[in-house]
Amino acid sequence: MKINGYTRTCGLIGNPVEHTMSPAIHNTLAEELSENLVYVPFHVPEGKLKEAVEGAFALNLLGCNVTVPYKSQVIPFLSQIDPLAEKIGAVNTLVRVEDGFKGYNTDMPGLYSAMCEDGVKLEGEKVLILGAGGAARAVAMLLAERGASQIIILNRTLEKAERLAGEVNAAFCRQPAEARALSDHVSLPGGERYLAIQTTNLGMYPRIEEAAVGDRSFYEKIHTGYDLIFNPSKTRFMSMVEESGGRAFNGLKMLLYQGVIAYELWTGAKVGTELAQKAYRQIRRAMGLEEY
Ligand code: ATR
Repeated sequence: MKINGYTRTCGLIGNPVEHTMSPAIHNTLAEELSENLVYVPFHVPEGKLKEAVEGAFALNLLGCNVTVPYKSQVIPFLSQIDPLAEKIGAVNTLVRVEDGFKGYNTDMPGLYSAMCEDGVKLEGEKVLILGAGGAARAVAMLLAERGASQIIILNRTLEKAERLAGEVNAAFCRQPAEARALSDHVSLPGGERYLAIQTTNLGMYPRIEEAAVGDRSFYEKIHTGYDLIFNPSKTRFMSMVEESGGRAFNGLKMLLYQGVIAYELWTGAKVGTELAQKAYRQIRRAMGLEEY
């Protein structure tokens, strides 16, 4: 990579940012597409988000990604917001426009692209969501938008699942979402098989032995399990889905495609499948999952 006076900068705003895989994605894409662009992490301390967004604009940044804990907090500091991001209530990509940044959510289109590639369909599907936090909210909105016929939100705290189901049903002119306590999974009909999307942080490194549901009978009701976690690459949730005869995927491809879509928004480039695969290998190398 050759940095000169014409180099454009994109970056990641978050706290912490030390373990991010995004530089591996964007710097690979820039290099392969011979774009004079560099992507760097920016650790933004608590209380400094407004200054960070204004500073990024003043420094002529082309765009940014936004990660925890700022995906919702960043919204007041944008000059425009994409309708999908507004519905989800979270922004992970800022694109420079004339008078500031426009906010997008590429996490959910990224998950959708990953699912399409993995042959997982949403239209007409009966889906279980484990968790009812910020990630679950985005997933539930995606599912409703893509025509899932039933969205059952299972959460430790029932009230949060109920609130989320209400919000999803209010945002769409139909009632696909319903709420249950996590422990109430036992009352799911026995003959039914679901797509299940795991959105809690249970099972994430280093607490890799954890899973939101430990009961094996639950996993017999799942034909496909999607875990948003990508470290470890096989979570306990995924192992239990597979041991019960289902297919299981981690969140690494979603990570890839949220980056690919952000990169396309920043540069106008079209990232083809082969190039996306190169970036995917680069993430896996950065994680120590593949040899250089
Ligand atoms: P994110 O934005 O990543 O979704 P979050 O908003 O903090 O993070 O949500 C975390 C989710 O994990 C919640 O659904 C939480 O359940 P509660 O609403 O009951 O807190 C779920 N979660 C966290 N720890 C859990 C545990 N030990 N058992 C079951 N669910 C848990």
